[in-house]
Amino acid sequence: MRLFTAGPVACFPQVLEAMSSQMFSHRSREYQELHMETVELLMNFLETRQTVLLFPSSGTGFMESSIRCGVSPNGKVLVTIIGSFGKRYAEVVETNGRQPLKLEFDLGSPVDPETLKQALDENPDVEAVTITYNETSTGVLNPLPDLAKIVKKYDKLLFVDAVSAMGAADIKVDSWGIDMVFSSSQKAFGVPPGLAFAAVSDRLLEVSERMPSKGWYFDLNLYKKFQDEKKSTPSTPPIPQIMGLNVVLKMIREMGKHSWLKMYSDRAEKIRRGVRELGLDILAKKGFESPTITVVFAPEGCSGLDIYNKMREKGFELAKGYGRLKEATFRIGHMGHITDEDIEEMFQALKSVLREIVEKA
Ligand SMILES: Cc1ncc(COP(=O)(O)O)c(C=O)c1O
Repeated sequence: MRLFTAGPVACFPQVLEAMSSQMFSHRSREYQELHMETVELLMNFLETRQTVLLFPSSGTGFMESSIRCGVSPNGKVLVTIIGSFGKRYAEVVETNGRQPLKLEFDLGSPVDPETLKQALDENPDVEAVTITYNETSTGVLNPLPDLAKIVKKYDKLLFVDAVSAMGAADIKVDSWGIDMVFSSSQKAFGVPPGLAFAAVSDRLLEVSERMPSKGWYFDLNLYKKFQDEKKSTPSTPPIPQIMGLNVVLKMIREMGKHSWLKMYSDRAEKIRRGVRELGLDILAKKGFESPTITVVFAPEGCSGLDIYNKMREKGFELAKGYGRLKEATFRIGHMGHITDEDIEEMFQALKSVLREIVEKA
């Protein structure tokens, strides 16, 4: 099966090879070297001199951590929502006993900067703002540098869900003023699932130091202390995934960040061109299309689910539409190990699936 999924995605062969190495203890010198080198590579990639942490969880672990460590019990968080993962952030806020103020936008649209400004004017007591950089359910990339500027002007903490953006869209943590930006291994870095990582600001670590009842497993200060003193994590980390991430970050360093990101934007452009050539429409508003996933409207009279199922029969795993868009759309993921040949063959299969559907109707 060839994968055009939303994650887990097809892993880079170099990653799979590195992950087959024998284990060592997470208290050994070998682990300490792997850990600190991976952290340093991530710091360079994310353009930060503050802190990068590795969590033995999926990306949602950092969502939980940002709220428990960065927002007072019962405190207010402005949650911007452009799709299903923004809604998840609101649930995480609520289930941790904080108050989400939901700022929701139409599906296919990004966060509107003026509306964000207005919400911050009207709610001066919010402690933090959350932004989904790339909304995987709609295929929209938010204009993060512009939005971050606004959040900083109002002097609020800024938490960014970059689960399906990091590794494919640019992130400059320090100059954009982000307090937490997190991702998972199974997306644009092309590594199996099980590892999460985030850049965390000094300011957030200070706020977190004083936060009551923040729990143990996702306590940012505990992870920072273990990293500084033991060059490791408090509990057992997913060592194979860290080996895989380490290799892919070295591939990026060798290629250069700019060329790596261009590889992703060129690939996304190629996918969008192919979709349009088949006469299909894309959900994302022009100018805000995702570099990692394209959400496509199924043609009149046919369901996105049908297209997904028929593509599977031809050996291609796309992604189903998500949430409210399940029937109306299907998604083409473009993260991880995908060749130009894979893309061409996927479009040939899609063309014949669409023809079969039309002939049957
Ligand atoms: C934008 C976004 N946020 C959060 C998540 C959840 O990430 P994880 O499954 O690694 O916890 C996903 C997963 O698809 C996502 O796409």
